[in-house]
Amino acid sequence: MRNIVLIGFMGTGKSTVGKRLAQSLAWDFIDTDCEIGEVTNLSVTEIFRRHGETRFRSEERIVVARLSQQEQMVIATGGGTVLNPLNWEALAQNGIMVGLHASLEAIFSRIGHKNDRPLLKGSKEAIEKLWTERQECYAQADFTVDTSQKNIDEVVSEILARLGRRIYNEFSEEVAKD
Ligand code: S3P
Repeated sequence: MRNIVLIGFMGTGKSTVGKRLAQSLAWDFIDTDCEIGEVTNLSVTEIFRRHGETRFRSEERIVVARLSQQEQMVIATGGGTVLNPLNWEALAQNGIMVGLHASLEAIFSRIGHKNDRPLLKGSKEAIEKLWTERQECYAQADFTVDTSQKNIDEVVSEILARLGRRIYNEFSEEVAKD
């Protein structure tokens, strides 16, 4: 069974939803930002501050290459992870790409007050620009769930229902071919 990879902008709920989703499937959960923290012994904020974004992206690339080899894992990516086509390719080769979407309003109310995301330090306009630019990339997911108005359990249920439908459809196509 392939991995389930959660993609989407900061604050869409990738880590919270991912943990709960993994629990309900009895799969392992991993968060690429946490993994980068383990490997480097630095928080995301510290890596950005001391070494810059380029270094963060190269650590992220290494972590993604390794995690993509795993199976039956729920992987929560960072908001910028899949913008690198190499990361997208590696994750999609062995996983189903599930997009989490949220309105800017929902994102600001969830994480606007937090201090742990270097890329949220800019003006509201700059964040809105980043969010807009990235939508095209996130829209390439196999399917997307809008988390703006939903609680964690509702999002998890919707993901499970849509995964179930996909597995059923793929299975039916295989049977039809035989
Ligand atoms: C980033 C998102 C963050 C983290 C880093 C960069 C981004 O992860 O990887 O601060 O480029 O959007 P979350 O999406 O988990 O906040």
